[in-house]
Amino acid sequence: MSRLKTTDRPYDLVLFGATGFVGELTAEYLAAHAPAGLRWALAARDERRLEALRERLPGGAEVGVLRADAAEPATIRALAEHARVVATTVGPYGRYGEDLVAACADTGADYLDLCGEPEFVDLMYVRHDARARETGARLVHACGFDSVPHDLGAYFTVRQLPEGVPLTVDGFVTADAAFSGGTFASALDQFARPRQMIAAARDRARHEPRLLSRRASAPTSVPRFAPEVGAWALPLPTIDAQIVRRSAKALDRYGPDFRYRHYAAVRHLPMALGGVAAVGAVAAAAQLPPARRWLSDRLRPGDGPDAEKRARSWFRVRFVGEGGGRRVFTEVSGGDPGYGETAKMFAEAALSLAFDDLPPTSGQVTTAQAMGDALTERLRAAGIGFRVAATF
Ligand SMILES: NC(=O)c1ccc[n+]([C@@H]2O[C@H](COP(=O)([O-])OP(=O)(O)OC[C@H]3O[C@@H](n4cnc5c(N)ncnc54)[C@H](OP(=O)(O)O)[C@@H]3O)[C@@H](O)[C@H]2O)c1
Repeated sequence: MSRLKTTDRPYDLVLFGATGFVGELTAEYLAAHAPAGLRWALAARDERRLEALRERLPGGAEVGVLRADAAEPATIRALAEHARVVATTVGPYGRYGEDLVAACADTGADYLDLCGEPEFVDLMYVRHDARARETGARLVHACGFDSVPHDLGAYFTVRQLPEGVPLTVDGFVTADAAFSGGTFASALDQFARPRQMIAAARDRARHEPRLLSRRASAPTSVPRFAPEVGAWALPLPTIDAQIVRRSAKALDRYGPDFRYRHYAAVRHLPMALGGVAAVGAVAAAAQLPPARRWLSDRLRPGDGPDAEKRARSWFRVRFVGEGGGRRVFTEVSGGDPGYGETAKMFAEAALSLAFDDLPPTSGQVTTAQAMGDALTERLRAAGIGFRVAATF
């Protein structure tokens, strides 16, 4: 690995998409919590809105401003050339994201995003992982509620279990929250492209090195009542289980044979069935362009839950881990998962890449692989709970 020298770049961190819904929350978090002397800049396509945001931020006079548009590749390349770390909330990533991944891979800048789109992550692996390994860039997708609590929660659970033995971990997600226009648009894009998603996953599998002496799997499971958490467990087809599996492939600590299953936990069966029917209806409607347009008009980019709704929102992910004769129950919990806590996880991950003493990694990496211990400690200090509930 030949890490390019990035320390002489003008900024430690550039936040792209700063004028969007999560972008602004992330900017506010960084302004309130960034270490003294952080050299950082806000980037977005509208300079006037950027200036207005900078004026609102405490200490904003010290913050740089860069205009960049996903439709103008030279402005995207300039972001990567000006920063050690580039954090982007410009999504849906399948529409706007690739040029920035390519530029970071090529210039050796670390890259992170909030992408929960499996097709995009797989395409970026095939197209840019090799170049990022050459330059030393770390490309870390899914640094928000997708998939930090699940990836670091599984990592935390594994570390409570014996080493060198087969391990299983089940994750059960419960949350009360609303979502933004940006998240809705990304979900609709995903629902509309099932064939492309499968093709990208197959292509990735052809390019990825095989694990030879260990196994790591995340099988599709079936709905069931899970007495261990006292709730109905519905398989969650989000990107999270794929991310956990990639961490297990990358890290020997997950043992010789690791299996992860990912569920939504719902107390009452009618509620569970209603949830499945609603997601199924949106996924079916997303296949038809007029219905997709109608749906996307319901929640526009830039819209999202207000501060009062966010303050009432919460999440809890319970994990049940087993192996080597031990069984452990752990929990990761916090406030508003989609936005308040996503902005916190995203900002802390960016600061971790910029400043923490991390294991030497490069290419497309997961949060557990790139920053497992350091990011867990940062999030704990920032109020996200990681705890062992019981051990047997
Ligand atoms: N669970 C999670 O991990 C999680 C949680 C929240 C969000 N997300 C993801 O994060 C992304 C952002 O969500 P959001 O709610 O913040 O959405 P949003 O408010 O719609 O923000 C999207 C951002 O993209 C920018 N943008 C769009 N086209 C652009 C272009 N051509 N050039 C430059 N910038 C452009 C917008 O700029 P303007 O400000 O100029 O319009 C805006 O800043 C979505 O993909 C969403 O799925 C993930």
